[in-house]
Amino acid sequence: MTIGGVLEQRVAVITGANRGLGRAVAAELHRRNLSVVVTARNAADAARAAAELGPDVRSQPLDITDPGSVTRAVGTLGAVDVLVCNAGVLLDSGTDPLSVPLELVERTLLVNLVGSWRVAQAFVPDMVRRGWGRVVFVSSATGAFSVGLWTSAPGYSVSKTAVNGLTTMLATQTKGSGVLVNAVNPGQVRTRMVPDARRSPDEAAVDVADAATLPDDGPTGTFLRGDRFLDW
Ligand SMILES: NC(=O)c1ccc[n+]([C@@H]2O[C@H](COP(=O)([O-])OP(=O)(O)OC[C@H]3O[C@@H](n4cnc5c(N)ncnc54)[C@H](OP(=O)(O)O)[C@@H]3O)[C@@H](O)[C@H]2O)c1
Repeated sequence: MTIGGVLEQRVAVITGANRGLGRAVAAELHRRNLSVVVTARNAADAARAAAELGPDVRSQPLDITDPGSVTRAVGTLGAVDVLVCNAGVLLDSGTDPLSVPLELVERTLLVNLVGSWRVAQAFVPDMVRRGWGRVVFVSSATGAFSVGLWTSAPGYSVSKTAVNGLTTMLATQTKGSGVLVNAVNPGQVRTRMVPDARRSPDEAAVDVADAATLPDDGPTGTFLRGDRFLDW
């Protein structure tokens, strides 16, 4: 049986799914009948969020900056079909490119870029071997040259530009394998990161879940905002 072009009970792993947009994406994919694994860097947070979604939802501690944590997750979870790289940090809001403490830039890149890249390296090769996969990077308009990078959060913005670059490279590398790799701009979403945003996590999660459940003839290597393609 297929749902939205995707076979029932594909296994979906979402990073940073204990709160905010990641939690809403986990809930939306659960509603779409995928087998959801809620991951979070804190094991208790992951377990609590999974239990709130339903008894069939698994949880897994996963700190994307910790290679050992990622290796343990791969060893525990078995086959993973859908990977949503959602975990991210915004540490340098209100700074500027000439004076931002570079320590903040480094920490941002370690999570948003290198952490997401690490998780992709851990899970995507097996998707390629099995001939099917969906990978979504939760990106941002702040990283888009077509919009203009956000100079008052320079580390965050370039981390998302880099994530967009990673998206295109992984899409090129996996082209024709059955694995589709795309970035999503969720817009401004009301989470701890942007508390006064108008868009609810549940609304934005639909866009991310759509990219995570693309049909086999869906796009790869694109930057999506809802059903529109954005210029990088
Ligand atoms: N909110 C917006 O307007 C907006 C706009 C564009 C893009 N985004 C992107 O959307 C994604 C989700 O953000 P959000 O708005 O939901 O923010 P959020 O509420 O601050 O959630 C961030 C999530 O990332 C997790 N995380 C941070 N570092 C981690 C690590 N090393 N390993 C694993 N998980 C880690 C956090 O876990 P802890 O609870 O343990 O800290 C939390 O679950 C991010 O990539 C963000 O850049 C957000």
